[in-house]
Amino acid sequence: MSEQPGQDVVLFGGTGDLVMRKLLPALYHLHCDDMLGADVSIIGIARESIDTAHYREIAREHCQRFLKADFDASRWQAFEARIQYRALDALDAASFGALAECLGDVARRSQVYYLSTAPVLFTAICRHLHEHGLITPASRVVLEKPLGHDLASSREINDEVGRYFGERQIYRIDHYLGKESVQNLLALRFGNALFEPLWRREWISDVQITVAEQIGVEARAGFYDKTGALRDMVQNHLLQLLCIVAMEPPASIDADAVRDEKLKILRALRPIAEAEVPLRTVRGQYRAGASGGQPVPGYLDEPGVGAGSRTETFVALQANIDTWRWAGVPFYLRTGKRMQERLAEIVINFRAVPHSIFGKGAAPLRNNRLVITMQPEESVKLHLQAKRPGDEMQLNPVSLDLDFAESFQTRRLEAYERLLMDVMRGNLTLFVRRDEQEAAWKWVEPILSSWHKSADAPKPYTAGTWGPAASTALPGREGFHWHEEL
Ligand code: BG6
Repeated sequence: MSEQPGQDVVLFGGTGDLVMRKLLPALYHLHCDDMLGADVSIIGIARESIDTAHYREIAREHCQRFLKADFDASRWQAFEARIQYRALDALDAASFGALAECLGDVARRSQVYYLSTAPVLFTAICRHLHEHGLITPASRVVLEKPLGHDLASSREINDEVGRYFGERQIYRIDHYLGKESVQNLLALRFGNALFEPLWRREWISDVQITVAEQIGVEARAGFYDKTGALRDMVQNHLLQLLCIVAMEPPASIDADAVRDEKLKILRALRPIAEAEVPLRTVRGQYRAGASGGQPVPGYLDEPGVGAGSRTETFVALQANIDTWRWAGVPFYLRTGKRMQERLAEIVINFRAVPHSIFGKGAAPLRNNRLVITMQPEESVKLHLQAKRPGDEMQLNPVSLDLDFAESFQTRRLEAYERLLMDVMRGNLTLFVRRDEQEAAWKWVEPILSSWHKSADAPKPYTAGTWGPAASTALPGREGFHWHEEL
């Protein structure tokens, strides 16, 4: 149960995709699981001049669609009683009066302002909240990505928001950190003595982080065409995953203990000089192909994509972390839309045995691998070698599997459920601190800049594949292979 009596969750961008598809369903789940305090109310905010009844109807329709079998009409009735709606123009100070009236005496309750709007509105919203006296020391603000499109613009937003909210009131969301399996990686690394002695350059040859999506750009071309995969996925989600894999053991799970360690990794990432970018990165763009057995158009034919767009829908790159633990261990990162499968996984490749005792006739020994799958299913597999039954000494790869759905029969919280609970409880551990975010921007900037100047277009790949051929060559140069190629 939430320990926060009297809390208002104010959803700016209240009619938008994120609120309808993720946030309201997450709040509904929390409500049904009795994790939402009785005195938590939800206020949807957007420009549309509709009333609360109409807003509840729209919310119901969406939640029913997204929650499918989890939707229960009678529970919804109790849940929707928490929801109100206020029409407001973020750029018009006067219109915040309606919100002030709805919130009442803000000192008696706490407020979560969730900014699920275009980032250009963040500053105006914070300023108007301040001018109407709606920010107290107990208020929190949640910032959705993208936070800027480069280091300078992210600094600008952070400076502006920072004028009204202290850093410990600011929750920068990276929903990958809310995924159960990512937190399980923390449990695996720091709750077991087994892995720590092996978790270093002496025993690990390379690390691979893949976030492959089957979907294309969908209805988001307006946003995506200006953004691209490096800003949309690598700067935040993939680098955060890399930090969780690579960081030193924090002294505790406290927010700053964890964030300090992640920051050290981001700062230890070897900068990729612009001249090196073509060697260490691959950018691609999907062409027409097939997905799930259906023909799908190429990126350039998607509605809303600019003619001749050079926006990348695929990125693969090699990162190196210049520390004693990781010197010489390449981290291969890869993400793309319209790929063969929906798959998010982290593969830790351990080094091969130094010498095989099994003689020339034996099959070559496969190296051990720890594979942490986040999507579509959550699992951890440790790939080992074992003897095949029979009179000969033949070794075969086998895996020790931990299937979370089987091991723990309880419903797992969706990323947004977990993160919303954390905001409401005031736990910052799974949120990105300003210095982390800026270090990540600093590292990706030379890549963006080199691509921008380059005469080469992104490499084409057929929708429904693992990306451009050049992506195979990236680990191949150092004698490694992507996991699925083995
Ligand atoms: C978002 C990106 O942050 O993450 C989207 O903006 C992407 O482009 C999404 O599709 C992927 O999230 P998930 O949880 O579905 O893997």
